[in-house]
Amino acid sequence: MASLPVLGMATTLTPAATAAPEPNSPRQRLRLEDDWRFHFGHAEDLERDFGFGANQRTLAKQGRSGAKPDAADYDDSTWRPVILPHDWAVELPFVNNEDYRRNPADKDDEDYAAAHGYKPIGRKFPETSVGWYRRLITLDKADAARCLWLEFDGVFRDATIIFNGYVLERHDSGYTSFSVDISDFINTDDTPNVLLVRVDASYGEGWFYEGAGIYRHVWLVKADPVHVPQWGVFVRPKTNGMVEASVDLVNRSDARRVTTLDVTALDRDGTAVATTRQTVELAAQSRATREVRLTLPQPRLWSIESPYLYTLRVEVTTEATRDLYTLRFGLRDLRFDAQEGFFLNGKPLKIKGTNNHQDHAGVGAAIPDALQVWRLKQLKSLGSNAYRTSHNPPTPELLDACDELGLLVIDEARQMTSSRQGLSELEALIRRDRNHPSVILWSIGNEEPQQMTARGLKVAKSMARRIRELDPTRKVNAAMNKGFGDGITTALDVIGFNYHEAQIEPFRTRFPDMPIIGTETASAVSTRGEYKTDAKRQVVAAFDTEHPYWGATAESWWSLYNSKPYLLGGFIWTGFDYRGEPTPFNWWPSVASNFGVFDSCGFPKDVYHYYRAWWQDEPVLHLLPHWNWSEGETVSVWAYSNCDEVELSLNSKSLGRQTMRRDSHLEWTVPFTPGTLTAYGYKRGKVVMKTERKTAGAPHRLILSADRMQLSADGQDVAMVSVSAVDKVGTPVPLADDLIQFALTGPSRLIGVGNGNPNSHESDKAPYRRLFNGYAQAIVQTTKTSGRFTFQARAEGLTAASLTFTSR
Ligand code: GAL
Repeated sequence: MASLPVLGMATTLTPAATAAPEPNSPRQRLRLEDDWRFHFGHAEDLERDFGFGANQRTLAKQGRSGAKPDAADYDDSTWRPVILPHDWAVELPFVNNEDYRRNPADKDDEDYAAAHGYKPIGRKFPETSVGWYRRLITLDKADAARCLWLEFDGVFRDATIIFNGYVLERHDSGYTSFSVDISDFINTDDTPNVLLVRVDASYGEGWFYEGAGIYRHVWLVKADPVHVPQWGVFVRPKTNGMVEASVDLVNRSDARRVTTLDVTALDRDGTAVATTRQTVELAAQSRATREVRLTLPQPRLWSIESPYLYTLRVEVTTEATRDLYTLRFGLRDLRFDAQEGFFLNGKPLKIKGTNNHQDHAGVGAAIPDALQVWRLKQLKSLGSNAYRTSHNPPTPELLDACDELGLLVIDEARQMTSSRQGLSELEALIRRDRNHPSVILWSIGNEEPQQMTARGLKVAKSMARRIRELDPTRKVNAAMNKGFGDGITTALDVIGFNYHEAQIEPFRTRFPDMPIIGTETASAVSTRGEYKTDAKRQVVAAFDTEHPYWGATAESWWSLYNSKPYLLGGFIWTGFDYRGEPTPFNWWPSVASNFGVFDSCGFPKDVYHYYRAWWQDEPVLHLLPHWNWSEGETVSVWAYSNCDEVELSLNSKSLGRQTMRRDSHLEWTVPFTPGTLTAYGYKRGKVVMKTERKTAGAPHRLILSADRMQLSADGQDVAMVSVSAVDKVGTPVPLADDLIQFALTGPSRLIGVGNGNPNSHESDKAPYRRLFNGYAQAIVQTTKTSGRFTFQARAEGLTAASLTFTSR
């Protein structure tokens, strides 16, 4: 496994990009992304697990965990420097561990190794399933008088947080956010504070690739003893501009405090538009909740097209400002109607959604915020307006981005259980996410084995009750694939159908008042750039024809859902390919699924253009397949378009004009001759568009493109670089598979590479990658040094290409 050059390690704490504190605020929220060191521990060998738990005394006395690295003078120079977010699973080689198969003879049998993409993580791999993170934190003298806590957006999984030798927390879930109060344990003299996080990914929580490590952000929050606690504000705005908010305040000092609570709404430009003030008396070491009301003049609504966000500024003052807490909110109205469908702000809106796991080529589960935004923009370009966080709470930055971009979200719990732990995770999810205008439904589970039972109903009712207590403004959903109408059904406000379209009508007869949403649809499979299903090569044709028995083609599910106004809409399984669940070839060497509308790099497959044609209004005309076949071969040619008619011609000879049916596609059968295949799109009898596919020669020159050339020098921002090849005359070479070498000069680092090939075992972290059907991707990250940096791509026998970026 080649590791990537890490340039320009920075040493400072970074203030949060989103909730930057105002200069006079004593509250700070600092992102801890640099200066971490990482080392594998061991799930069985105590010595290799730094002696943690080696004897009975580990937890006997506090302040000495027994883990050697908790000493301030521990020499961690052999530990690897890492920058968060970090997923160590994606760095590991692929391992064919077929002995996980319960029935080795049956290739379709559930296979744990395949399920998570053949990465050596799990109980059978003790040497690569436990990771230790260590970071020194230097604090100021003034911090002694403050409250300090760490906020973890998410760690996969079973995180033990050890701070200055104190074992402060054991957090099991790999998906929920949590915080750890460190106020009582800090050193504010010159002794550094030692933060150790032991992460144990031995147990999985899903049936898909989940990553391993501190794969989301970690924050250090410093606040006055009188402050708004984490997730302490719940804002309930109405479209008429009336805003109600509940504000929690704590006084962690030993003195009574009389404070002024100012709550102000700011418009998008930062202008205060409404404010309210009240006095709050807080006894020593107490907690209080205050209700506030604001009226926004000329309220602006949040919508898909115009996701207008206000800011709520909560200020707590005695003589000076003690705390300043801000959050964003949006005004929108949701209506789920069993007869008429879904309404946003009173207007009907068909939900055009995608399901996604948190996984991208090159980085696995450790998705930088800028990449998160890039992925969502790819989905929006499809015409998609919704995202289901299958099957777990997402990182909060994903929801921030959905708020900003205008995407509706089904926010899903990982486990359907009403155990104490289950309810506490559910509570963390709701408290954290209930201010996001993007979130429209809470999902309590997906295809749970108990979904059709009386026990399932008890569990679902307990979860739904807790949700309604914490958030009376939203509805409760679950995704079912069996027992529609039974079990958990009556605990839900909106039922989710995963596939099984034939059962929709019978269900409606029994439950005419229950709104229906397609929580999972399609599961259609295609490999980008492949046009013949080939079991030997384990690739599946990218015509919209292939799906597992439970799924459907894009065209069949969408035509159905679009034809029934009462269906709220549906979520494609999936937006992007992801590691694990290698369908339809659920065995080695396939390590990733083929479900995506985009491949694992976010390169669109042909079906992207089908959805684009029918999910948005811009004119679309797309031809498939490529035009590099053997002479005389008969090729099926498809067109995706929203034009009225499409005419196909080969080398200027018309092959006929056909009328497009709504939500459909067109087909021709064409004997191959090299040259140019052209499609003309007609609207009202006139040609409005033209697209071509040309027979390409051998690869001659590399082409680079990037989503942005100006980046932020914050050590987190990324550029998404696409690499492709063209022939001598500039025609894209659809089957190019050249090995590309990457090099960077200047303040930047390569954090991952990919090509969307579900059968590739090349390293995600190497400075090289083969093109797969013409494309590869490199993800380039800035450092905290501003300046220009150049990315270069080379391949033997081809003209090289380079791009120069600026970061500031
Ligand atoms: C569903 C399941 C998803 C995924 C999908 C594949 O049943 O909810 O997580 O496994 O099938 O088609």
